[in-house]
Amino acid sequence: MSFPTVRHRRLRRTAGIRNLVRETVLNVNDLIAPIFVTHGTNVRKEIPSMPGVFHLSIDQLDAELDEIVSLKIPAVLLFGIPETKDAIGSSGFAEDGIVQAATRHIKKRYPDLVVVADTCLCEYTDHGHCGMIHVENRDGHIHAEVDNDESLDLLVKTAVSQAEAGADIIAPSNMMDGFVQAIRAGLDEAGYSHIAIMSYSVKYSSAFYGPFREAADSAPQFGDRKSYQMDPANALEALRESESDVLEGADMLMVKPALAYLDILRMVRDQFDLPLVAYNVSGEYSMVKAAAEKGWIDEQAVVYEMLLGMKRAGADMIITYFAKDAARWLQ
Ligand code: PBG
Repeated sequence: MSFPTVRHRRLRRTAGIRNLVRETVLNVNDLIAPIFVTHGTNVRKEIPSMPGVFHLSIDQLDAELDEIVSLKIPAVLLFGIPETKDAIGSSGFAEDGIVQAATRHIKKRYPDLVVVADTCLCEYTDHGHCGMIHVENRDGHIHAEVDNDESLDLLVKTAVSQAEAGADIIAPSNMMDGFVQAIRAGLDEAGYSHIAIMSYSVKYSSAFYGPFREAADSAPQFGDRKSYQMDPANALEALRESESDVLEGADMLMVKPALAYLDILRMVRDQFDLPLVAYNVSGEYSMVKAAAEKGWIDEQAVVYEMLLGMKRAGADMIITYFAKDAARWLQ
């Protein structure tokens, strides 16, 4: 009788052995929890397409923060839903802007909780684009374009005002060219050379952001984001985007979305040595929630497997709407 020469199953035989040989570990320190903050008082409104995720007014933040801190999640990512919007997104860089106010509140209650501020204009512009719109009449045809360089000044203002409010990390998600360089210079000049930039370096133009746009009321009012966010068909371009961000002074890189882009995470991990973030986006969350609600999948097992996949692909940390659930399951 001949025996198999190699027996892989020996190392899978007991839970103890499997624990010993496990290559990838998900840790609560890997998690960043997004929070949507809004104006007003007594607002705790669930986002319909994202069950378990809420719009919170500042007076309602404490319960959420207490939970996050007691679960030992190290960081939150703030998104603002402002009271007013205009063409240049000025509520995004107002001193009393919603993210600025929330940051001050959080830093007073929990100085050690890392506050990451999403730096973009789309939540604050009336047209919903991530930059300034330049309109031109060419032979009777109206062309509207997001103007790259004009947008940079506004993004710098936003980043500086977020740092002033106490944000620990600036996370620009707007995909304008040169945004890391501009924001780095702006922060340095304003006295915030110690504040890190987590660049949304590789951000695809993705349908997986659908629920977020409902959540942040930030869908573009015309056109789409394809002239600044990346084409999902491209991989080499992700290396060019990452490289320029490294050269411009980014402290961390990000790949977004995560699930359909694990190959990109791996490529960026292999080429660059900065800490790497995976963004497990809104659509990835909603899909799991919907299937779990129908009883079609085991939510906890699926979430664990997804987050582990992102880490195995090379992510050092994960922004996820499952952060609190995952932290609870990991306890
Ligand atoms: C802002 C921004 C978006 C997301 C994070 N920052 C939306 C977009 O680019 O349309 C999406 C996050 C998610 O889907 O969870 N630019």
